[in-house]
Amino acid sequence: RGKSEMGDFSSLGLSDWLVKQCKQLGINKPTPVQENCMPAILQGRDCMGCAKTGSGKTAAFVLPVLQKLSEDPYGIFCLVLTPTRSLAYQIAEQFRVLGKPLGLKECIIVGGMDMVTQALELSNQPHVVVATPGRLADHIRSSNTFSMKRIQFLILDEADRLLEQGCTDFTKDLEVILEILPAKRQTMLFSATLTDTLQELKSIAMNEPFFWESKSETRTVEELDQRYILTPEKVKDAYLVHLIQTFTDEHDDWSIIIFTNTCKSCQILTMMLREFNFPTISLHSMMKQKQRFANLAKFKASVYKILIATDVAARGLDIPTVQVVINHNTPGLPKIYIHRVGRTARAGRNGVSITLVTQYDIHLIHSIEEQIQTKLKEYPVEEKEVLKILTQVNVTRRECEIKLESTDFDEKKEINKRKQLILEGKVSAGERQSKINDSVSSFYRAKSPW
Ligand SMILES: Nc1ncnc2c1ncn2[C@@H]1O[C@H](COP(=O)(O)OP(=O)(O)OP(=O)(O)O)[C@@H](O)[C@H]1O
Ligand SMILES: [Mg+2]
Repeated sequence: RGKSEMGDFSSLGLSDWLVKQCKQLGINKPTPVQENCMPAILQGRDCMGCAKTGSGKTAAFVLPVLQKLSEDPYGIFCLVLTPTRSLAYQIAEQFRVLGKPLGLKECIIVGGMDMVTQALELSNQPHVVVATPGRLADHIRSSNTFSMKRIQFLILDEADRLLEQGCTDFTKDLEVILEILPAKRQTMLFSATLTDTLQELKSIAMNEPFFWESKSETRTVEELDQRYILTPEKVKDAYLVHLIQTFTDEHDDWSIIIFTNTCKSCQILTMMLREFNFPTISLHSMMKQKQRFANLAKFKASVYKILIATDVAARGLDIPTVQVVINHNTPGLPKIYIHRVGRTARAGRNGVSITLVTQYDIHLIHSIEEQIQTKLKEYPVEEKEVLKILTQVNVTRRECEIKLESTDFDEKKEINKRKQLILEGKVSAGERQSKINDSVSSFYRAKSPW
C-alpha cells in the first residue's frame, strides 16, 4: 500500500507537503480526534468534535482546511471564530506555521487593535480570517470592503462558549456574522465540553454533522494529577505563597498558571507575589490588548514563570511549559474547572492541578467531581510552614490592596465598560445608565460570590 501506513496522516488523506509540515512540528501520529474527524471533514461533511483538553483539536481542523485550500486557493476561504483574543492569535499561528509552503495569508480580527488596519487586511482577501465575534461583527456593520460570500469553512473553536449566554454574550454578534456567510459551506464545531450545549450547536451545523466524542470514563486527562487543599479563606494566600515557594525551590523549569475570579483579585495577587519576588505577570480583560499580548509572550518564553489570570485564559491556551495550575478560587461551574486545569498535562505530558477550597466551596467540588468522574485527592502541605508566613502574607496583601485603591483601578473598569457600551452602539441613552448600573452591581457580586 505504498509508503503510507495505517494510522498516519497520509492515510487520512493529507498531501505529502502537509505531512512533512506536521513532521517538522513533531506531529507524527494523528491523535484520536484527528484520526476520526479529518476524513469526514475532507469528505465535505460538517463536523462536531468533542475531545479532551490538549488532544490536538486545532490541527484536526487546520490540516483539512489547508489541504482543501491548497487544491483551490482563494480568499476569503475560511473563517475561524473563537471567544478570546489570545486564542485567535494562537490559532492563526498554527495556520501560519503549517500553511507556510502555501504562502498562506491569514488575518486576525480581534478587539483592542486598530480597526482601520484590520479593515485594510480584510479587503486584501486573506485566505483565512481568525476572529473574535464582537470585532468581526463591528467590521460587518461598519463597512462593505470585504465579502465572506464565498467562504467554504466556518469553524467555531470553543463552540459551546460562543453559543452559551454568559457574561460576554456572543449570540447577537454571531447572528450578524452568519447573515453574511453562504448557506452552502462546511461548519465545524470543536470543544472539550460540547455535550451540554448539543442542541444549540446542531442548529448552527446544518448538514447532518459528523459527531465525534472521545470515549472515556473521565472528562479530564489521565496524565493530570488533580488535588485540592482545604483552607479557611484567610489562609488561602499563605497557602498560595507556600505552594509557589515550594515549586520554585524544587523545579527550575516549571511554569505555573494561577486562576482567580476577578480582574481586581488578579491585580492584587500579582502585586503581592511580586512583593515576595516571584517572577509574576498577569492576564485579565482590564488590560490593554497590547499589554495582554506582551505579557502572554513573556510567560510563554519563560521570562516570567508565574501567570495570574482570570477565566479569559481558561480555554484553549497551549503553553507546553505549564506544569501546574492553581485555582485560587474554586470554579463555580465544572466546565470552567475542566478548561482551567486543562492548561497543563497537554499532549500526553504530565501536570498537576491544585484547587484551593474553602468551607463554602465544598458543594462546588462535589459537583465538579461528579461531572469529571474523578475524585480530587488532598494535596499534602506542612501546615506549620504555612502558619509561619501567614501574618506576613496577609499584611503584604493588605498593603497591596491599599496601594491599588489609591490608583484608579475600579474607576477605569467602569469607564471601560461605559466606553464599550457606547462604542457598540447597542444601548440608547436611557438604557445606558441602567446597563452601567447593572454592570457595577454585577462587578460587586462577582467580588464576593459567596
Ligand atoms: N498528532 C499530534 N501529535 C503530537 N502533538 C500534537 C498532535 N496534534 C497536536 N499536537 C500538539 O498538542 C498540543 C495541544 O493541541 P491543541 O491546542 O490543538 O489542543 P486542544 O484539543 O485544542 O485543547 P483545548 O481543549 O485545551 O483547546 C499542541 O501543542 C499541538 O501542537
Ligand atoms: Mg483548542
